[in-house]
Amino acid sequence: MEIRTVGVVGAGQMGSGIAQVAAQAGYGVVLVDVSESVLERALSTIRRSLGKFLEKGRITQEDHEATLGRIRTSLRLEDLAEADLIVEAIVEDEGAKRALWERLGALAKGEAILASNTSSIPITALARYSGAPERFIGMHFFNPVPLMPLVEVIRGALTAEATRDRVVEAARRMGKTPLEVQDYPGFVSNRLLMPMINEAIEALREGVATKEAIDGVMRLGMNHPMGPLELADFIGLDTCLAIMEVLHRGFGDDKYRPSPLLRRMVQAGLLGRKTGRGFYTYDEKGNKVG
Ligand code: NAI
Repeated sequence: MEIRTVGVVGAGQMGSGIAQVAAQAGYGVVLVDVSESVLERALSTIRRSLGKFLEKGRITQEDHEATLGRIRTSLRLEDLAEADLIVEAIVEDEGAKRALWERLGALAKGEAILASNTSSIPITALARYSGAPERFIGMHFFNPVPLMPLVEVIRGALTAEATRDRVVEAARRMGKTPLEVQDYPGFVSNRLLMPMINEAIEALREGVATKEAIDGVMRLGMNHPMGPLELADFIGLDTCLAIMEVLHRGFGDDKYRPSPLLRRMVQAGLLGRKTGRGFYTYDEKGNKVG
């Protein structure tokens, strides 16, 4: 069965980007969220991103319009009943994902591929909640989705090879490079990245250096395009905390214990760029202002 329609659930930072690259690849897209204002914001983010591609001459005016024309938004999960591939990108919370996949598994059509963009929650567990573990897979995009070339592809214990093959093909059609990794906590990306971010937060908490100096060391000394504290703000501190908790629980090793400062900032609602304040402050367009 050919993939024609891609359903995306969750229209936040990741879901809006996934909807965009799927539409750019020529798929019909149904983008679902629980909030109308989030859907509107997602569409304007997509419009802005396509506008930048147009300015740089990477797409034509026709591509721009055709891409937007392929994206439909909805508040109803039932509108995903005809989707051939469903990519879930809601909050990094196993309870929320479980409730969603129990519903999605029941309403998706029998041959649909079911994929989660989770950063760290075991694919094998989400697959079980969906009731269709052989058609379930991890399809982990990177932020910002329209620019980052990688998709980590994670097979759960019962994922069929045919499911992997179709997701690899879809990722390539979206212009991405799929790399397959096994279903262990944090996969490869966040097992390596998050402990570094967590350690940067601990260094800040201990007063080893200012936030600017910590980020500067990694940018100027290690050639990272962004320092770890800036990157944490960009990812979302709630997402970083959720991933650290999965690593800590999954490996049972205190080297993955989330920094108390990270926990405190999440409790205070300082989630980074998406709320305007994290380690740094941001204007409403997400530009760093302090
Ligand atoms: P976000 O907070 O920007 O967006 C989450 C969206 O899900 C919100 O718009 C919310 O309204 C919606 N939502 C929540 N429950 C829902 C439900 N039951 N049905 C429909 N929509 C629902 O989060 P973000 O950053 O986009 O992350 C989403 C997922 O992608 C998480 O699993 C995260 O771990 C993963 N991810 C995040 C990356 C990042 O850099 N932020 C990178 C790669 C993966």
